[in-house]
Order: sequence, then C-alpha cells, then structure tokens
Amino acid sequence: MAVPARPRGDQTAAWWALQDVYRSSGRDFDLRDAFAADPQRFTTFSQSAPHVFADLSKNLIDAATQALLFELARQCGVEAHRDAMFAGEKINSTEQRAVLHYLLRKQAPAHTGYGQLAINSEANWLAHELAQVHATLDAMLAYAQAVRGDDAITDVVNIGIGGSDLGPQMAVLALDEFTIPGKRFHFVSNVDGHELAAVLKHLQPYSTLFLVASKTFTTAETMTNAQSARCWFERQGGTDIARHFAALTTNVAAAREFGITTTFGFWDWVGGRYSLWSAIGLPIAIAIGDAGFRDFLAGAHAMDEHFRTAPLHQNLPLRLGLLDVWYRNFLGFTSRSIAPYHSALKHLPAYLQQLEMESNGKRVDLQGQALPFGTSPVVWGEPGTNGQHAYFQMLHQGTDVVPVEFVAVRKPMHDLAGHHQRLLANALAQAQALMLGQMDAGGHRHFPGNRPSTFLLLEELTPASLGALLALQEHRVFVSGSVWGINSFDQWGVELGKVLARDIEPRLQSGDSTGLDGSTAGLLQKLLSFP
Ligand code: F6P
Repeated sequence: MAVPARPRGDQTAAWWALQDVYRSSGRDFDLRDAFAADPQRFTTFSQSAPHVFADLSKNLIDAATQALLFELARQCGVEAHRDAMFAGEKINSTEQRAVLHYLLRKQAPAHTGYGQLAINSEANWLAHELAQVHATLDAMLAYAQAVRGDDAITDVVNIGIGGSDLGPQMAVLALDEFTIPGKRFHFVSNVDGHELAAVLKHLQPYSTLFLVASKTFTTAETMTNAQSARCWFERQGGTDIARHFAALTTNVAAAREFGITTTFGFWDWVGGRYSLWSAIGLPIAIAIGDAGFRDFLAGAHAMDEHFRTAPLHQNLPLRLGLLDVWYRNFLGFTSRSIAPYHSALKHLPAYLQQLEMESNGKRVDLQGQALPFGTSPVVWGEPGTNGQHAYFQMLHQGTDVVPVEFVAVRKPMHDLAGHHQRLLANALAQAQALMLGQMDAGGHRHFPGNRPSTFLLLEELTPASLGALLALQEHRVFVSGSVWGINSFDQWGVELGKVLARDIEPRLQSGDSTGLDGSTAGLLQKLLSFP
C-alpha cells in the first residue's frame, strides 16, 4: 500500500503559530517564573510511562506551547505515520522497506501455522514475519543457553560496528549485574588492528567464541576483523570453526561463504541501529540468558504499546520528540547532552548518538527537497558525575544553551554505603543549578540559569527497564523525524566515505595521487615519506 503524503512541519499552520509564540513570549520564557506562577508545574509536566518516570517540568515550555506542539503533530500526521509503521507499510521509502523493529519485541503469536498462511494482505504478512521472528528468537536463545552452560567458553568476542556493536556493547555493560559469571565479553569494532590485537592477546582459541555481527556481511571493518580473527584462531591451532564462530546477519549466504555455518538471521526491515533486539542481540542473550532477554524485549514492547496507544498529551515518546523539535527549530539549540547518572550506562550516549544522528541527520525531505530548517541535534555525553568535572562548566556558563537529559536509577545494585545517595544528589543538584542559576554582580560567578533539562528516572536498571528506555528513545527519534518530513530509516550519508576509502587504500601502497585533491594528495605523500 502506498504511504500517503504528509505535510512537513513547516507546511502546517501550527508551525507558524509556534514561530509566533516563540517571538511573542517563548524566547523570554523563564523557568523560575513558571514554577512560581504554577505550583502544579511538576505534576503537569511529568508523567509515568512503562518503567520510566519523566520529569519534563524543567523544560522551556508552557501548557499553551505544548498544546500547539500536539497540534503540530496532528497537522503533520505523526499518528498516521506511526500507525503506518505499526501496520507494516514501507515507510522507509528510499529503500522501499517496512520498518518493523518493534515486531522483534512483540509476544509470540498465540497459535502456530503462520508459515502456511497465504501472504495476501499486510496483516497476514506481519503475522508471517512475527512467526519467523519467534522461530529465530527461540533458536538464538537456545544457542545462548547452550553457550552459557558451556564452561569451556570463557570469552565471547563480538565483531561488528555501528548498530552491530553499539547496542549490544551498551546493553551488556548496562546489565552487568545480570550477567552470567565466568564469561567475559569483548567488543571489537574498529578496523584499527590495535583494537583486535589488544583483545586477542588475552585469549585462547579453545575458550573463545567469535560472533561476527553484520547486517549486510559486507562492512569492510567487520570483514577485515573477522578474517584476522579466523587467521589468529587457525594459527593458534584452532580447528573447529563451527563451534567457535557464529554469524548474526541478514546475509546468511555470505556468512556461509565466509565459512561460518552457525548463523542467526534477521530481516531487511530492521535498521542497523534498531537491531539489538534481533540476532544482533546474541551477546546480550548470552550475558543475561533466555529469561533476561525476553524481559528486555517485554520492557521495550510495553513502551511500544504506550507509544502506539497513549493519547498525545500522555504519550512520552511523543512529548520528548516534540520538545526536540521545539528546541531545534524554534529556540535554535543545536545539541543535546545525555547525562546518565549510572556508570553501567556509560555507553548510552554513544548508542544514542547513532540512533539520533544516523536517523535524523538528513538535509532533504522525503521528496528529496532541501530543508529550510535544522534536523538532528548533536547528541553527546558522559556519565555523571564525570561530566561535571569536564564540560558542565560550559553547560552552566557557556554561551550556548544545551538541553541536558539526565537518566537516573533509584535503586543501586551495590551496597557501598553513601555512594548512591551522593550520586543522586549530584544529578538533582546539576539539574537544579542549570535551572536556578546564581546571581553574582562580579560576573565570573554568575550563573544565568534558565537552562533546560529533562529527568528520566528508572526504579531499577533491569533488562525490562533498559528495554523500555531504549524503545522510548527510538520512538522519540521517530516523532521528530516525522515532523521534519525526513526518512529516519536510511543512512546514505555514510556511503561516500566508504567508496573513497576503497579508492585511497591502494594508493597508500602505490603512492599514486593522480586525480586527488591537493590536500589528500599532500597527506598521502606525507604518509609515504615518513622515514
Ligand atoms: O555505515 C553505517 C552502517 O550501515 C550502520 O547503519 C550500521 O549499523 C553499520 O554500518 C554496520 O553495518 P552492518 O551491520 O551491515 O555491518
């Protein structure tokens, strides 16, 4: 079914009404005044969603602006777009693909036999895909359980990059407390041989399992690392590739050609940065086991259902995505800082960076027309409290306003006295300081305040709550991309550099700089002339 055209944000009346609001009162909005005027502000601007409590009250927004943002979503057809995704329509129109990562976390069909269904409608097709999802999930989790029970395997090495690395790496660390003892997890992504070499030097072939994770099974970095890992394995006397290598890919044929017979597949309707719920999540499944991985999926599914069914004003991904639009397009903020106050969420900012910036870092709309407004902000961050001692200076007193997204967890997983209270006190204090600021006539000690932040709070960091948090982030990226009228599910922007690297690589051998631009030619000669 053809995806109906939707108006882009700036083609709606609500967009221009928001522009007027910004000019008349929005740019002078002051959080301190807003709290003084409305004792209910915290309640009005906070909400619970599955596994996540969100305080949005320290954002530069009032009820009227929020209502206009909901109107913007309505006028852009965000709900219809969301429903089109959930109905399996090919909303990734530049690649003619459906976007079904949410299907990976949907419960198993109540009855079997979908394999026999005639795929003559979208509903049947989705049911068929769901049955395939569960067949693969069951096989992958059975394999994960076998690896968990295999004491001879002590080290699991995931070889993959981008979405085939960032998600699993982030989640395995985040769920460290749920991880099976006696196994170590390593992640090798960079083509820089230092990374693989540093891992291999501590390993033995008989106790190592390599997972070659690549949606396409063509990515140069991953193929290079996989080949080197296999050479190392054989040089060290390893022989049983079937036992020590598994591939996680949509391109099972290429994995077999590479010599890997243990394979777990997935589908082209899963974008790389949305793939940790698929076979790409195998390291997570080995770490936390069958039940843990199913909880992880269930947490995400709960958030999917929230996004799919909650009314606009109680729909957390929608509210966050619309705030992102307000900040980017009306207040002109170009960046968002992620501050996870939990060291196990150390890799969350890097994961969110790909999720947001690869999805929404686009300069043309669905029709290929250049956009007259900004899209993806720069997403970055470090765990608190470390960031406080590095770049929070700029957040408090710099010339740019950067909205901060705090992520905190109420219950710690350790029993070290005093630490968690101090950690949480710091998170609250930073959000408070950003908002309240401090008057000082002298200037250098003056904090302007009125700097916005969102506070996301989990009760505990568990597979389910992590799943929900990540699905929340996926859907908020969907919402802003939808208002911007872009395709959040392709990534053509990564291709040019790959092509040029293939051209340059042999030149580093031959020294031929014919046809190169002056700078690249100069650097090539410099590299070749070092003694
Ligand atoms: O180069 C970008 C990208 O295609 C990402 O979208 C993807 O997550 C990553 O490369 C890895 O791709 P693959 O899983 O196919 O190796």
